[in-house]
Amino acid sequence: MDRIRIRGGKILNGDIQISGAKNAALPLMIASLLTGKTLTLRNVPRLADVNLLLRILRNHGVDMTVDGKRAGEDGSLGETIHLSAATIADTTAPYELVSRMRASFWVLGPLLARCGEAKVSLPGGCAIGTRPVDLHLMALEQLGGKIDIEAGYVVAKAPNGLKGNRVVFPKVSVGATHNALMASTLAKGETIIENAAQEPEIGDVAACLVKMGAKISGIGSSTLHVEGVDELKGADHSVLADRIETGTYAMAAAITGGEVTLKGARADHLDSMIAALRQAGVRIDVTQSAMRISRNGNRLYPINIETMPYPGFPTDLQAQMMALMTMADGVSTIRETIFENRFMHVQELARLGAEISLSGDTAHVKGVHKLTGAQVMATDLRASVSLVIAALAAEGETVLHRVYHLDRGFERLEAKLQGCGASVERLAAA
Ligand code: EPZ
Repeated sequence: MDRIRIRGGKILNGDIQISGAKNAALPLMIASLLTGKTLTLRNVPRLADVNLLLRILRNHGVDMTVDGKRAGEDGSLGETIHLSAATIADTTAPYELVSRMRASFWVLGPLLARCGEAKVSLPGGCAIGTRPVDLHLMALEQLGGKIDIEAGYVVAKAPNGLKGNRVVFPKVSVGATHNALMASTLAKGETIIENAAQEPEIGDVAACLVKMGAKISGIGSSTLHVEGVDELKGADHSVLADRIETGTYAMAAAITGGEVTLKGARADHLDSMIAALRQAGVRIDVTQSAMRISRNGNRLYPINIETMPYPGFPTDLQAQMMALMTMADGVSTIRETIFENRFMHVQELARLGAEISLSGDTAHVKGVHKLTGAQVMATDLRASVSLVIAALAAEGETVLHRVYHLDRGFERLEAKLQGCGASVERLAAA
């Protein structure tokens, strides 16, 4: 397995182009199942999760082509993919594929809505928590789906099509909102989704569905109104900028000091993180199409944060913020309210010299004057990148193992950091 070696202590200066958001690209690709016409997606990040989902979609019968390089392109703006599900050849999403990526479970709603049946493996637990799917199933049942669990599979049927209804989520779920929204576009009549997740990635999918002919209002709010249509058409859509990647590089720049411009960043999707970084003493200048992060020798102040559904502080930036706070001048408190087991980075950060104590869902991070390089292990996507952030500031050499976690969600990570002066290199598996 590949490893990444980081020699810490280099100040970051330069520009980083922000990629398309993984968590928008995946559901956008799944939306191609809703139509027989071609969905063109631009700015799709080159990620292992995208490739895996392409395999899953191919298994359902989706044809796909990827544009080659065009004159003047340097490959920094993602790929253009054309997806065409003229006929759905197979409505089963098998365990071997779904178990490798949870988001693939989201094919359930679109397949059921379009084909009147779907059989999708239960995704099972994962490193960050148990992650049940009860809310997905509840929503699809409210839309008239008949759901059974058979031998580890969700078997859903709606032979006469789905019917619009009021879907009230007792708890905010990004994935269940995606599933309900996509399914309801083809349901008969009106659907009202209440307590919907408001993450910008849902707004991006909703905007694409509207281009495909769906009738959706309330986009960006917690109540979505959908008037079902008989069929959707093709569309051309560019994936929005990745706010989690943006936040990750903002914290990398903040921990090393220096000045980094994040090109294409959507600061308007990062209010809670920007507020927290400013409180920590990091300077952030926002322009229409970029964010400049700078810290020039001044101290880092400790902060207290709690992860929350959007627009609260994102759980997907919790580990990175913790890495930053290991170098703050005082004790920070970080509470994780979304996933019950999303602190696996704590032990690995401790290997670099961080002082962190855990009490239930809360971590107390006592800032230290220096971190020291060590061998560390990636456990999940965001935990891994928090170790990269800490390693950039650590004295000496850090080697990160199990890099495949990073490749699931960060496009050209080494190149982007190297471009700002970091010493980061991939060591290929022996
Ligand atoms: C999405 O996961 C993201 N994944 C996650 O990003 C992100 O951490 C999460 O939303 C929260 O923001 C993608 O977009 C592909 P949820 P999702 O359903 O949809 C509970 C990353 O690193 N819940 O909003 O699976 C659940 O256990 C990934 O890129 C139920 O109880 O998250 C959790 O506690 C990791 N029943 C909470 O809701 C359900 O049926 C929020 O989960 C569904 C969820």
